[in-house]
Amino acid sequence: MLSGESMSKIIEIYFSPSKTTKKVVKQVAGNFDEITESYDLLSFNDEKEFANDDIAVVGMPVFAGRIPKTGRERLSKLKGNNAKAIAITNYGNAHVTDALLELVDLLRENNFDVIGAATTISHHSIFDGVAVGRPDSEDIKKINEFAEKCHEKIKLEKSLESKIPGNRPYVEYKQLPFKISCDESLCAFCYDCASICPENAILEEDPISTNLEKCSRCTACINICPEDARSFTGEAFESKKPEFEKANSERKEIEIYL
Ligand SMILES: Cc1cc2nc3c(=O)[nH]c(=O)nc-3n(C[C@H](O)[C@H](O)[C@H](O)COP(=O)(O)O)c2cc1C
Ligand code: SF4
Ligand code: SF4
Repeated sequence: MLSGESMSKIIEIYFSPSKTTKKVVKQVAGNFDEITESYDLLSFNDEKEFANDDIAVVGMPVFAGRIPKTGRERLSKLKGNNAKAIAITNYGNAHVTDALLELVDLLRENNFDVIGAATTISHHSIFDGVAVGRPDSEDIKKINEFAEKCHEKIKLEKSLESKIPGNRPYVEYKQLPFKISCDESLCAFCYDCASICPENAILEEDPISTNLEKCSRCTACINICPEDARSFTGEAFESKKPEFEKANSERKEIEIYL
């Protein structure tokens, strides 16, 4: 355990539809022994201000080279007041593109003092044959080393110095063309999917239908469904899957920026 001495709280902040970003954030935060507060941006959508001796560990998944639009909007409501921040974009072994740069820029705009940043790799939440089982024990070791280096920087009161890769303006938001369907014969009408959907794309009265105009393909509903009733379906998805899995089969590693 690493003690931040004068530091008051570790703030976990994440938008994590299939829960791997949450896992990475908790792994980093678990290396510090301050009191922990958590903000799950799938549900938390309020304004909040932090104190300058807080340390925020902020994780976002990569969605088409960006951080998720709704994650971005909700994170924008959290103000740092010069609190330290550790920025993490967690991706599915394909490409990070501009997501980490976007996250670091946004945290700085919101008055967080970013001290370290990393890209981590987790199981691809859409193409489930990519990065299977990650983060694995090798990843966890590297995540802990990253946390330790961040802790050192906090003690030395040093801000992030490394250049983060990516371009401004960031790559445009892209809506994936894949369909999400619900198998009515499996659905138990528990309404968990409608409750968790951050885009209000599933109606409480009718969890079988999904409003694909509103849906960001985030995967939260697939992940929460206790009956495995929800999944990606359709020709566009089925034909892309083998090609995508082959193209992204080579293992990528965590990159850290201090
Ligand atoms: C809509 C969408 C877009 C994605 N785009 C990318 C991408 O551009 N690059 C990549 O490597 N992974 C991409 N992924 C995979 C996720 O970044 C990855 O699985 C991440 O671990 C998901 O985090 P979560 O488990 O917290 O939801 C995408 C996933 C979704 C749902
Ligand atoms: S319906 Fe779409 S936006 Fe809503 S939880 Fe499911 S995948 Fe995410
Ligand atoms: S979470 Fe699954 S079982 Fe529950 S209402 Fe949604 S689709 Fe049906």
